Amino acid sequence: MAADTTTADTTTADATTDAGARSASGVATGIVAPAELLPILLVPDPRLRARARPVGPADADEVRALAPRMLASMYAAPGIGLAAPQVGVGLRVFVMDLQKDDAKAPMVLVNPEIVAASAELVTREEGCLSLPGQYADVTRPARVRLRYQDLAGARCELDAEGLLATCVQHELDHLDGVLFVDRLSALKRNMLLRKLAKELKARARD
Ligand code: NI
Repeated sequence: MAADTTTADTTTADATTDAGARSASGVATGIVAPAELLPILLVPDPRLRARARPVGPADADEVRALAPRMLASMYAAPGIGLAAPQVGVGLRVFVMDLQKDDAKAPMVLVNPEIVAASAELVTREEGCLSLPGQYADVTRPARVRLRYQDLAGARCELDAEGLLATCVQHELDHLDGVLFVDRLSALKRNMLLRKLAKELKARARD
């Protein structure tokens, strides 16, 4: 399954975060063309559980080099969002692209923070490149306002709703070492984690 539906604003949309479907041609075009792919860490890698630190001026070069590689890795996976801790980098950066067709709309968000969230909640199906093949309904605020810096260091603000709101909250969680399964009941979480471990073991055998 690789759903990447963008049926925004319904309370039972089957949208997925991180692990959205995307045409395989994505890697060959646009700003991601020459970038080398980064391996994406899988649960239970402890680096997925660490809190990432803010990007400072001294990190600017590293982040400018990292962002295109993260985007290329996200497109190749394929996914619609990827946070730096998922590639083993403990910095507060994530990338995303919610475009469904081949027209790319890559975004790089540095030091993102939620400054407002709606009381209204929405439930969407989420997935994650660090938990391949696992999906579950997660409930989060329907709308959030985000402050972040772009790659040039400019301060930006983003009002997100629909799939975008789900995606930014999912990616922001990664920067705090939180995975979408942490927002499920213990029963559901353990079920998914056991299923993942079994599938990864089977994959390693093949
Ligand atoms: Ni994820």
